[in-house]
Amino acid sequence: MNYIVENGKGILAADESNPTCKKRFDTISVESTEENRRDYRQLLFQAEGMLNNIGGVILFDETIRQSTSDGTALVDLIKQKKALPGIKVDKGLTPFENSDIEKVTQGIEDLDSRCEEYFKMGALFTKWRAVISIGNNFPSQGCIDENAKLLARYAKIVQNNNMVPIVEPEVLMDGSHNIQECYDATSRTLKSLFQNLEKENVDIPGTILKPNMVTPGSDYQEKISIETVANETLRCLHESVPENLPAITFLSGGQSETVSTEHLDAMNKIGGFPWKLSFSFGRALQAGALQTWLGKSENVDAAQSAFSHRALMNKKAALGQWSINLEI
Ligand code: 13P
Repeated sequence: MNYIVENGKGILAADESNPTCKKRFDTISVESTEENRRDYRQLLFQAEGMLNNIGGVILFDETIRQSTSDGTALVDLIKQKKALPGIKVDKGLTPFENSDIEKVTQGIEDLDSRCEEYFKMGALFTKWRAVISIGNNFPSQGCIDENAKLLARYAKIVQNNNMVPIVEPEVLMDGSHNIQECYDATSRTLKSLFQNLEKENVDIPGTILKPNMVTPGSDYQEKISIETVANETLRCLHESVPENLPAITFLSGGQSETVSTEHLDAMNKIGGFPWKLSFSFGRALQAGALQTWLGKSENVDAAQSAFSHRALMNKKAALGQWSINLEI
């Protein structure tokens, strides 16, 4: 597992469900067909910047079963670039106790048998995403605890199947809340998560945490500095995350590509923590590549360059060696 985050490497989250992929493709007016999704993922996995910068790739169920037009399994493309294949195993969200807003994650019932199948297909790690929303009367403790309980049950089942679980409790950026509200929600969530992981006897040294950074909501009006986000995120992690957890790989959650990189770099420059601090970005690794590709084969090289650049920038950030001059 240390391999995934060795020498500043991080994770490419390419596990968008088909509805999410459609949303992304709509922004470039490309139809979300099985073939187009395959072509796009193939483009990413064949990019030069996978090598040395990306230690693992999270796939969606459809993708782990796909091959390139010349018959190479996408899983093998990933391995050729010396990255480990992983798989999203949750089945998306459903309302928490009839709430209009709060959600719990589905997919625990048949998880054991699906893990067995994915392991045979070459998956070495997995991801389960829980979602926590901030608003006037939430997150409720009940919703936090239910999600944490499911994350812990998931992690135990995955470890029993000889794979590494990534636990992802995402406090959403949606809303106009301030950074303190995000801090509080993230802190409550992480505390409940680690209590439940302990209760389920999950092996913490064999687990990866994929949290949000502590930021204000996306509709919050004031500008908050990079250093404030870095400091508040680290303070929150120090408060709740055990020292024997090996790695924390952040989601980007709707932050722009450069801002995500800057935050990660700032945290690694501050240092003083026992975990590897790296990335598991979806949008913050792919946005430029997607906007360059536009579904056209003549743009594949340029799109791969855009992706390779972002992968390298995030590796630098995971080492605390990024600077704005490298972006030009
Ligand atoms: P973002 O980096 O786009 O938030 O995606 C990461 C992810 O895997 C969300 O579940």
